[in-house]
Amino acid sequence: MNSEGNRVLLLVGSPKAPGKSVSEALGAYVIEKMEARRWSSETIFIRMSLQSDEGRAALVEAVKTADLIILSFPLYVDSLPAPVIRAMELIAEARFDKGTHFVAIANCGFPEAQHNKVAMSICQRFAHASGLEWAGGLALGMGGALSGQRLEEQGGMVRNIIKALDLAVDAFAENKPVPDEAIRLMAKPIIPGWMYTTMGNIGWRRQANCYGVRKKIRDRPYQR
Ligand SMILES: Cc1cc2nc3c(=O)[nH]c(=O)nc-3n(C[C@H](O)[C@H](O)[C@H](O)COP(=O)(O)O)c2cc1C
Repeated sequence: MNSEGNRVLLLVGSPKAPGKSVSEALGAYVIEKMEARRWSSETIFIRMSLQSDEGRAALVEAVKTADLIILSFPLYVDSLPAPVIRAMELIAEARFDKGTHFVAIANCGFPEAQHNKVAMSICQRFAHASGLEWAGGLALGMGGALSGQRLEEQGGMVRNIIKALDLAVDAFAENKPVPDEAIRLMAKPIIPGWMYTTMGNIGWRRQANCYGVRKKIRDRPYQR
């Protein structure tokens, strides 16, 4: 397929600053690979784009001109961060009929990728409601073990993520949806579950120490 003139848009759904989020690291990897296939690209940080009329207009315009849209976001309370939902409303109001492919990449803090299921369904419904073509989603657990660094610099634990994204890029370049094998690889635990929860517990205790509430960590102030 001739990819000249094709355009991919990355929407970063994490409210974190540029360079700091797992969502951006995952999306940026895909963008780099698509650029290597001579697709042009644009990256928009949703939270920042919503702060002005110009930003909101640019967001809708970028969606209008894209051939492939990738939304990469963190799971927030089993759903999507509020700015992402606002951006979805703006895009849905504009309604497109070009059949632009829409892909979601979700990452969550719990160990299991399946926590992203409801958010993925929301993304799928959003695509249908907006006139975009749902091209599938990749869901990742254990996001807390990753960082905003380039994926290639995050060591061996990202090897299945990279394999999954490479398979997805191959498919996108041919206008195909996310392959099942990519979904399977992305959902694989990146480190053993016990190791992730142990590290998480150490992190929570360290934070509690910082705020001088180490002894209150098991308190349940709202329990009757
Ligand atoms: C307000 C808030 C709500 C969250 N809710 C969930 C949740 O419901 N389930 C979950 O597994 N992780 C949850 N997380 C964890 C994030 O999804 C996780 O840290 C993710 O890796 C952050 O990705 P990012 O770096 O792209 O922002 C939540 C984090 C925050 C700050």
